[in-house]
Amino acid sequence: MEFIRSATFLCSLFLASFVTISEANFNLTILHTNDEHSRFDEFGPSDFDKCTKEFQESGACYGGIARRVSAVKDIRKETGNVILLDAGDRFQGTAWYNYYRGSQTALFMNNMSYDAIAIGTHDFDVDVEGLANFLESLTFPALGCNVDATNESLLDNLIPCSTVLNISGELVGIVGYTHPANKEYSRTGNLEIAPVIESLQEEVDRLTNQQGVTKIIAVGHAGISIDQEIAQQQIPSEANALIGCCSTSHGEAPSSEVPYGDYPIVVTPDSNPEGKVLVVSAYRFGKYLGRLDVEFDDQGQVQSYNGNPLLLGNHIEKDVGALETLNNFRGPVDELMASNLAYSMVTLDGSINTCGRGECNMGIHFAEAMLNYQLSNESFPGWTQASIALYNADSFRISLPQGYVTYQDVLDVIPYGDTIDVIELRGADVILVLEVSVTNLEADGEPSGGFLQTAGIRIIYDLTKPAGERVVSVKVLCTACDIPRYEPIDDDMIYKIVTNNYIATGGTGYGIIPDMLISRVKGADDVDVWSDYFRSKSPVWTAVEERVTFQEDSKCNNGGQYKLNWVVSVFCSALWIGLTYRFKALIDI
Ligand SMILES: *[C@@H]1O[C@H](CO)[C@@H](O)[C@H](O)[C@H]1NC(C)=O
Ligand SMILES: *[C@@H]1O[C@H](CO)[C@@H](O)[C@H](O)[C@H]1NC(C)=O
Ligand SMILES: *[C@@H]1O[C@H](CO)[C@@H](O)[C@H](O)[C@H]1NC(C)=O
Ligand SMILES: *[C@@H]1O[C@H](CO)[C@@H](O)[C@H](O)[C@H]1NC(C)=O
Ligand SMILES: *[C@@H]1O[C@H](CO)[C@@H](O)[C@H](O)[C@H]1NC(C)=O
Repeated sequence: MEFIRSATFLCSLFLASFVTISEANFNLTILHTNDEHSRFDEFGPSDFDKCTKEFQESGACYGGIARRVSAVKDIRKETGNVILLDAGDRFQGTAWYNYYRGSQTALFMNNMSYDAIAIGTHDFDVDVEGLANFLESLTFPALGCNVDATNESLLDNLIPCSTVLNISGELVGIVGYTHPANKEYSRTGNLEIAPVIESLQEEVDRLTNQQGVTKIIAVGHAGISIDQEIAQQQIPSEANALIGCCSTSHGEAPSSEVPYGDYPIVVTPDSNPEGKVLVVSAYRFGKYLGRLDVEFDDQGQVQSYNGNPLLLGNHIEKDVGALETLNNFRGPVDELMASNLAYSMVTLDGSINTCGRGECNMGIHFAEAMLNYQLSNESFPGWTQASIALYNADSFRISLPQGYVTYQDVLDVIPYGDTIDVIELRGADVILVLEVSVTNLEADGEPSGGFLQTAGIRIIYDLTKPAGERVVSVKVLCTACDIPRYEPIDDDMIYKIVTNNYIATGGTGYGIIPDMLISRVKGADDVDVWSDYFRSKSPVWTAVEERVTFQEDSKCNNGGQYKLNWVVSVFCSALWIGLTYRFKALIDI
């Protein structure tokens, strides 16, 4: 369904082959992973289902470190020249990350003998110090040709540009890159991040001209469209093949995923119409293991290729050693997950059917947590820098019943690993953003994933008006004041708004935001922000308020007389509750 949010996947791995003087054909098997997001445990048929007993029994559980270890082990046994690469984003997504912050990830990856990895956007979530600890504990290199750590002493010398592997006497160069936008959007400290193409080209030239390396693979985390651009524009001056990884799954998807394209995607480089550049990726969460077999002829030309992401389903036996080790690590993670953060006197309703049509109390609670988080003791002209929180309704996966709220609950509600950022927008642009919130909202239609949950703002809409003209009035809490009050929004004033990185970068229909941004400051992980707020404010009894209201009868589309309004609006609410209830049962599985 459209309102269910789809995450964006970034990253890539490329192979470029150059003219070589070796005599015989050379076959190479490239295994690759990306966007694992700390999925050490297997999971159910949808990416966010747990592997319950029922799913287990019907063979509907996927992924997990034990299957990953065993699949790699089996392929290495069966075939000769195998390399294993990861294109980034190992961190964020489960409590394994929240507790171990990468230390146990390193142990498993070292044991699997990865040959090289790239650094993803979320790998900076542990801050440069945490990333430095992670990289220091690896027995293989993390590569980034466009990363300069000169001014970030903690990471200095920890992110080389390339490595050269000797595979059965054939030299294979691996070059790495990370997303250029990491500088802006990730917690990269004083790292400098240069444009990808120039940085890679320089290293590829050096490897080929000075070291005689004949085959080059690039592994990186920049997203499928940048990958294809690189494939088309760069290295190719000499290359005839180039392989990439990540993004949604390519090729024939044996499970429910819709493939992005062929596996591999074959790109023809601008500079070499005869050349082939192969781009591959392996979905996310370790549901698949990417496998590309390439045969090079004695000129280093790609003679043939073959492959598909291997589904790590029930038919893949779990590695016993990996499972045992995982279980030994499990105790503190379970303890963290089960820890009570707060007691809620009320149901926190996060269902898309409520939150996607109007304000919901879970939405209000999280919005308050966002505002609270960025309050600080710094001196501003008033009581805060930002008094408004806005974010998309499809942030929540489930509702929470009345009772204790655990850390696990918070992770289950917001599993996407977003950050809570502060952006600046002009008042007139805030109004345009508020229009997007109700563009797709019709009285009897589907809920909208982009409907905005709020704090510090009062909005009145008229849904009888055409989309784009529905905002009737907007009031915002003053910031430069001693006593916060709601005041009409000023078109020309610049407002600081707390939101998540997802819509700040254009998610869920907010493509207009990136172009409007005056500034954006990346903040803390959403799970940290919300769990801290729960801890500090128990018991919880968040009410539905009147932050967002719809002008009288605009939902029932009734232009009737004054006397009828009351009756109509009661009917309207009853219908509303009825619908909410039914949809909730469907959606809160
Ligand atoms: C390389 O792979 C091709 C295609 O699968 C196969 O026909 C050939 O025998 C292999 N060559 C070697 C040396 O293994
Ligand atoms: C390091 O910082 C200095 C001083 O701010 C600056 O001049 C220089 O360009 C920076 N170097 C890199 C590689 O970013
Ligand atoms: C690569 O390894 C082979 C042994 O497999 C060795 O003979 C050769 O010298 C190595 N090449 C380089 C450049 O190290
Ligand atoms: C390490 O790798 C070996 C060989 O693949 C496997 O048998 C063993 O169980 C692994 N251990 C862990 C902790 O993953
Ligand atoms: C403000 O808070 C920071 C961190 O919480 C603290 O280190 C600093 O001393 C505080 N400053 C004042 C003026 O209270």
